[in-house]
Amino acid sequence: MQALQEQYQRIRHLPLRDLFDQDPHRFTRFSLSCHELLLDFSKNRLTPEIWTLLLDLARTAGLEQAREALFAGEPCNWTENRPVLHPALRNPGQQPIRVHGRDIMPEIHGERERMRLFSQQFREGALLGARGEPLRALVHIGIGGSHLGPEMICQALQPYGESGPEVRFLANMDGASFYDTLRDLDPAQTLFLIASKTFSTRETLVNAQSARQWLQNSGMTPEESNRHFVMATASPEKARAFGAQPEQIFALWEWVGGRYSWCSAVGLSIAVRVGFDLFAQLLAGAHAMDQHFCHAPLEKNMPVILALLGFWNGRFLGAETQAILPYDHTLRRFPAFLQQCDMESNGKRIDRTGQIVDHPTGPILWGEAGSNAQHSFFQLLHQGTHTVPIDFIGCSVSHYPLGEHHLELMANFFAQSEALMRGRTAAEARVELQASGLSAAEIERLLPHRVFPGNQPSNTLLLRQLTPFNLGMLIALYEMKIFVQGFLWGINSFDQWGVELGKTVARQILAESRRMLAGEPVDLSRHDVSTQGLLRHFIAGQRGHCT
Ligand code: F6P
Repeated sequence: MQALQEQYQRIRHLPLRDLFDQDPHRFTRFSLSCHELLLDFSKNRLTPEIWTLLLDLARTAGLEQAREALFAGEPCNWTENRPVLHPALRNPGQQPIRVHGRDIMPEIHGERERMRLFSQQFREGALLGARGEPLRALVHIGIGGSHLGPEMICQALQPYGESGPEVRFLANMDGASFYDTLRDLDPAQTLFLIASKTFSTRETLVNAQSARQWLQNSGMTPEESNRHFVMATASPEKARAFGAQPEQIFALWEWVGGRYSWCSAVGLSIAVRVGFDLFAQLLAGAHAMDQHFCHAPLEKNMPVILALLGFWNGRFLGAETQAILPYDHTLRRFPAFLQQCDMESNGKRIDRTGQIVDHPTGPILWGEAGSNAQHSFFQLLHQGTHTVPIDFIGCSVSHYPLGEHHLELMANFFAQSEALMRGRTAAEARVELQASGLSAAEIERLLPHRVFPGNQPSNTLLLRQLTPFNLGMLIALYEMKIFVQGFLWGINSFDQWGVELGKTVARQILAESRRMLAGEPVDLSRHDVSTQGLLRHFIAGQRGHCT
């Protein structure tokens, strides 16, 4: 770490553009391909010396052994004593993978086959509702990891799903979201997929209960309404208590983290939307990236490279956030998906020994599709005071050829990373201002405003086209990057205790609110005065509304 610190002192004021001027081979040195995905990481504040030190650090820390342990099913989720085996879900092979001595591959293949049959029948209109009408719409109810992946993927594969059945997503427990999602659907032709690993998440259960009521409001009996549900869950007993028959339940396992579960039966909505063959290609792409991660040497390993760059940017350049900017309209939910996956995984502060870490961990992820983003927050990236590493994601070939739209879009894609790297010096700005014929005094007054510091680090991920296979690779790339970073920071990427406290407090407040609304005396003294005041104000508003 000391050597890296010294290197940082050497380059901290060095403009990135100088590194390009000094090394004509910088692109070749700092770029690589995996299948149809090119990663250019040359626009980072990196020298060959720093790169060697970062790779040494990963090797010395035991990254190669940690990688092996992950794929061997060792309990990498050490606070819950669970293996982390989402890669097994996209493994097409029969080679045994054992959890507590039991080979999990036959079960995985069995559930995959059930998904194939189900999605095929749904797409053919062969699945009938309780009233004998073919089911034509699937509403996926789930939240967080049980929602964002499938929703993002269905949107990203829109060109492949346009002729498929209607698939919609319901996550938020806000009634507005419920009405908006179901507004024009026919209950007799609608099936609900309840995607919940625990089958105890309040948002999902509240929406599922209302969905059942919505079906019954159309005249169905409770038994009939139960036939309009399928479940993807690791808690089959709770799904049965809700009213599901065993054949309506698709299995999930405790060794699949929610945010990595899109490749399990939680992804049934994807298979319904685009067909199982394309879902299988998505899995194949993710598997290809898993294989690359597993076998490529660290210096040629994309997830490792992205992880080390994030480590460097956070620890030495002081970058607290990272922007994800897909220049692809169909990938517009990718930043939101990644935000959950990364921040729930690596938003931690306690290390393996139970100590608070003395270094930054997961960054704040945010982002938006380009080129829209250029007209909202890019000003801050170009001339603000923050170092913001960026991942630019784009495709060579568009699914929607329209005149020169794609050429224009991609010209912006390349221009932004170049401009953010090079910036504009005072000398360059002066020449431009002089050319516009301004007076010398006016030029000096405006000059500081026309200088761009540059030096913003960025990666460029260029796919040939956004096919299911390539999308699978892209997702797995980030998943494995998250694993590597968690390992380097010494934290557990696979638990999420931090979301529990809010849930516990919400349960208390819900019970208190019900009693307050019923006019019962409630002791609020366990809450701070702010929360007490807000709650009383809210209940008064509710009462005013009701009477
Ligand atoms: O937000 C917390 C969380 O537990 C996520 O990790 C998970 O993806 C989400 O809630 C939904 O959980 P479940 O699939 O159990 O309903």
